[in-house]
Amino acid sequence: MASIIEARNLTKTYNNFIAVQGLNIQVSEGECFGVLGPNGAGKTTALKMLYGTSSITKGELFVLGLNARKNIKKIKREIGVVSQEDGLDFDFSVLDNLLVYSRYFGIPRNQAFKTSKELLRSMHLDNYMDQSVEVLSGGLRRRLVIARALLTEPKVLFLDEPTTGLDPQSRLWIWNLLLGLKRKGITLVLTTHYMEEVERLCDRLVILDKGRTLCEGTPQELISTNIGNEVIEFHVEMSDIDYHLEKIRDRFEYQVFNNKIRLFIPNTVPAKDIMSSVSSDNIIIRRASLDDVFLKVAGYDLNTDIKDL
Ligand SMILES: Nc1ncnc2c1ncn2[C@@H]1O[C@H](COP(=O)(O)OP(=O)(O)OP(=O)(O)O)[C@@H](O)[C@H]1O
Ligand SMILES: [Mg+2]
Repeated sequence: MASIIEARNLTKTYNNFIAVQGLNIQVSEGECFGVLGPNGAGKTTALKMLYGTSSITKGELFVLGLNARKNIKKIKREIGVVSQEDGLDFDFSVLDNLLVYSRYFGIPRNQAFKTSKELLRSMHLDNYMDQSVEVLSGGLRRRLVIARALLTEPKVLFLDEPTTGLDPQSRLWIWNLLLGLKRKGITLVLTTHYMEEVERLCDRLVILDKGRTLCEGTPQELISTNIGNEVIEFHVEMSDIDYHLEKIRDRFEYQVFNNKIRLFIPNTVPAKDIMSSVSSDNIIIRRASLDDVFLKVAGYDLNTDIKDL
């Protein structure tokens, strides 16, 4: 499959601070590629380099076969961007936000009008067409920003945390929308810190932490190579930790986190065969997830508050 995006050793430094270090990715046509990481991981910086609003300190980038250092204007005509900040204009109505944006791209007024109305209809925003953006909820604003990014009929859509801060229902709506866009053949590149978002949408992902790439692959590959199929999780008193670990230390991989031990069960051994090594009344066996992968490769839980690190 043709590579729509190819980044080699992509690096961004601010003075001496390395925000993104040696990012290598290849995104194929029609796939959804995720950039997962906690606050400050370098997701926005990486994405901005990919869509051409942040200069590249080092490395090479090809988008749609074009060298991004030389053809950024051409590339920008073929891509859509949903940035982390909405950037909507509160002085304009919902429809006018789209019309004004169309003008930046030189879309003829008649066509802009027609496309904008169609997009608003498909986003279920047509009832708000003449209202101020101010009346829209967070979820509806996100839909409007996505509509705006689609005005130019992009081949690739970049989305920086498309559902952060939204309620579960709005998030689901946007996930379905994005899956629909993917079915139409639009290549998606999105950043997120939600594991569920990755699991629902992304064919492949890269996990970033402090600018570095921790791992890259399909969700299933990352889970099965780093963890296995299943995880046994049980609560322990930290004073008894040595007692619990004694029985498992040399036999299995594990993580201790928040008064819990997570045992990673190799694919070759059913979790139930290991239960005899575990002394606790409060045991769950569950499928391994990307949360476990993150905890293993980063050494802390993605949901940990950054202040607690
Ligand atoms: N313009 C800038 N000048 C200096 N440092 C910057 C600049 N932009 C970002 N950084 C730093 O680079 C690092 C990565 O920031 P970035 O915004 O890419 O992270 P992120 O993964 O998008 O985080 P979040 O989840 O909070 O959006 C952070 O430490 C940030 O402070
Ligand atoms: Mg960001």
